[in-house]
Amino acid sequence: MKIGIDQISFYTSQYFLDLRTLAEARGVDPDKYVIGIGQSKMGIPPPDEDVVTLAASAAFRLEEQGALEGVETLLFATESGIDQSKSAGMFVHGLLGLPERCRVVELKQACYSATVALRMAMGLVAMKPKSKVLVIASDVARYELGSPGESTQGCGAVAFTISADPHLLAIDPEAGFYANDVMDFWRPNYCSEAQVDGKYSTLVYIKALKASWAQYAEESGRSLEDFARFCYHIPFTRMAAKAHQKLAHGISNEDLEKVIGESLLYSREAGNCYTASLYVGLCSLLDNANEDLIGKRIGLYGYGSGCVGEFFSGVVQSGYRNALFTEAHQKLLVDRVELTFQQYEDIYNYGIPTDGGKYIFPQYRTGPFRFSGMESHKRLYETV
Ligand code: HMG
Repeated sequence: MKIGIDQISFYTSQYFLDLRTLAEARGVDPDKYVIGIGQSKMGIPPPDEDVVTLAASAAFRLEEQGALEGVETLLFATESGIDQSKSAGMFVHGLLGLPERCRVVELKQACYSATVALRMAMGLVAMKPKSKVLVIASDVARYELGSPGESTQGCGAVAFTISADPHLLAIDPEAGFYANDVMDFWRPNYCSEAQVDGKYSTLVYIKALKASWAQYAEESGRSLEDFARFCYHIPFTRMAAKAHQKLAHGISNEDLEKVIGESLLYSREAGNCYTASLYVGLCSLLDNANEDLIGKRIGLYGYGSGCVGEFFSGVVQSGYRNALFTEAHQKLLVDRVELTFQQYEDIYNYGIPTDGGKYIFPQYRTGPFRFSGMESHKRLYETV
């Protein structure tokens, strides 16, 4: 029985900061960000957008199509949790009006948790092939103003369903995975910005990739030539390029562009979406591949700091193009509003009130849902 990704939907905020604007304000050569880091824009969530509204907006498209019928479990992957007890998935369950007969839980291991959610979902579907699992990965990447990480911020969510006989990607059983207790990137509960040992994090990312790939290759007997394309966790697009160069020593720039270029297009515009980033890459690839990918094998590498890496793969299914939201994804990115540097800093500094009072947040552009305010320490959401 084939099990894998049936449909996939991506959403990011309606606002962005151009990295050339950031470079000018920080006195940095723009080429460092655009070429050296490989990013053009970063998605910035306004005060009334958070991981819940980003997630619900991504999943809403699936719901509109009836793709959530049969969903018995919602796995919510994030490292931008909004509550120590209640899963962000519960708010999404409410906003989407999912059935009461539903398991809901939040998973955390930096950017890796959406990948373990995918694996857990496959196990649930294997036990009950008529059921589906909704996986949502949603995050806001936030570093200190003026820090080296600032240009690698971003935000976004991806919602995908795991089912038997999937429309998009049948996931192979083989996987290589690697865990190591390191401090390359972390966020203590009392911090709203990530702490990061930037250069070290890039080395650990590669170390985990090499170990995961070696194990995967041994288990599956496959080599790099067995893959038509590769999707990487994308903290910034140059990282994915460097990662692939480490696996495929001496690869030409032309071949590198061919095997990963299409997967990087959305991330270059949205920035790091942490847990969602690998799957933003997959959306970008499936939506933008010039070549017909039917029957082709895709290699995927999920990485979460701290750290866990996993290399796995899947085969693109016939008719996959009919199951994509390509137009909606492209329109979303084109229609976004550009922020001035001052607007970016104002939004960055807009803190959520913590005194238990009643607050209604100013209305910005969002998707179908907004985080409208706070009352008695409860987050208020509404349909727009
Ligand atoms: P930095 O140290 O300021 O940058 O920040 P740099 O000096 O290393 O420059 C970056 C690149 O730009 C270099 O290229 C420069 O040569 C080049 P490289 O040598 O690496 O090939 N450059 C230029 N290119 C063209 N024209 C110019 C120019 N100037 C310089 N004028 C750093 C870089 C990644 C450290 C920083 O952005 C950072 O700390 N980012 C956050 C951490 C991160 O994203 N780590 C990635 C791996 S860990 C991961 O992926 C997990 C994560 O997603 C979190 C999670 O799991 O939850 C982050």
